[in-house]
Amino acid sequence: MTRPTSASAPASAPPREVAPGAAPGIAPSASLRIVLDIARDEDGPDPWAPAFRQALPGATVTTWPETDPAATVAVVWRPSQAFFDAHPKVEAVFNLGAGVDALVSLRLPATASLYRLEDAGMGAQMVEYVCHALLRHVREFDRYDDDARALRWAQRTPRRPEAFPVGIMGLGVLGSQIARAVRLFGFPVHGWSRSKAELDGVTCHVGPAGLDSFLAATRVLVCCLPLTPATTDLLDRQRLSRLQRPGYLINIARGALVVDEDLVALVDEGHLAGACLDVFRTEPLPADHLLRSRPEITITPHISGQTLHDETLAQVIGKLKTLAGGGSVSGRVERGRGY
Ligand code: GLV
Repeated sequence: MTRPTSASAPASAPPREVAPGAAPGIAPSASLRIVLDIARDEDGPDPWAPAFRQALPGATVTTWPETDPAATVAVVWRPSQAFFDAHPKVEAVFNLGAGVDALVSLRLPATASLYRLEDAGMGAQMVEYVCHALLRHVREFDRYDDDARALRWAQRTPRRPEAFPVGIMGLGVLGSQIARAVRLFGFPVHGWSRSKAELDGVTCHVGPAGLDSFLAATRVLVCCLPLTPATTDLLDRQRLSRLQRPGYLINIARGALVVDEDLVALVDEGHLAGACLDVFRTEPLPADHLLRSRPEITITPHISGQTLHDETLAQVIGKLKTLAGGGSVSGRVERGRGY
């Protein structure tokens, strides 16, 4: 599936927690009732409902805006509040992406558990995206492109990976794969996470107390953090200024982690050499947006880790079967924490 177009975050409402002690699974049922609300930005036949019907022949599968008030399972990408209001019996919600920021602010049925997509082929794509952006910047391929267009033949002095320490913010399923891959190119790698992490060859910094040392050790910052109230606007002038000069930002997480005006000001001042951004506060990024106004800033349309149909379907179906059989599965979101 092409990554569905994301809109700005839905109107916020206080998140509701699963009642203490409530089972995180779905009630075992011979005949599952599944309802899908999967926004897509491609025309053409819906690839999801037929695939769920084929994989789960006994199940009833309904596609929003049709409703099934008895549905106990929801499979969603950027659903609306109206969708959840129409499905009060939902016990398990599967998000077809890793980031659940658009969901935690919605009112889900009180006992519903929320599951994020875990890798499902996104990790490899994000590794490629970050390595490409990193090497393009360090090896100055963007400048060689300009030279070629201007018929200039100029070899630049090689730049060593040792001079470009990379800092990965967020060392979860995706961030840790990126850290390992970047390490293979010989870049010094630092990682920052909310709770203590250990990764071979990566200098790990922890929590608010470790943020300054992490930023000061970093020249190329890779942002893989979840968007929560605690991380919104985290990368502002003050924090981005701590990066080694001239720094570089690669953001593959969410646009609202970065204060756009501060980023552009630091590029203009030369503190940052540029940025490669895949995510934005408003998507699609408006034509006249500030971030489009600087050649040092590379823009891509939220494609660093796209949801892959087959891998995603296999993961969701596998988890559904486990839950329906009374088991428990990974990837459950702590809604109070926001990821
Ligand atoms: C993509 O943005 C995702 O959350 O998977």
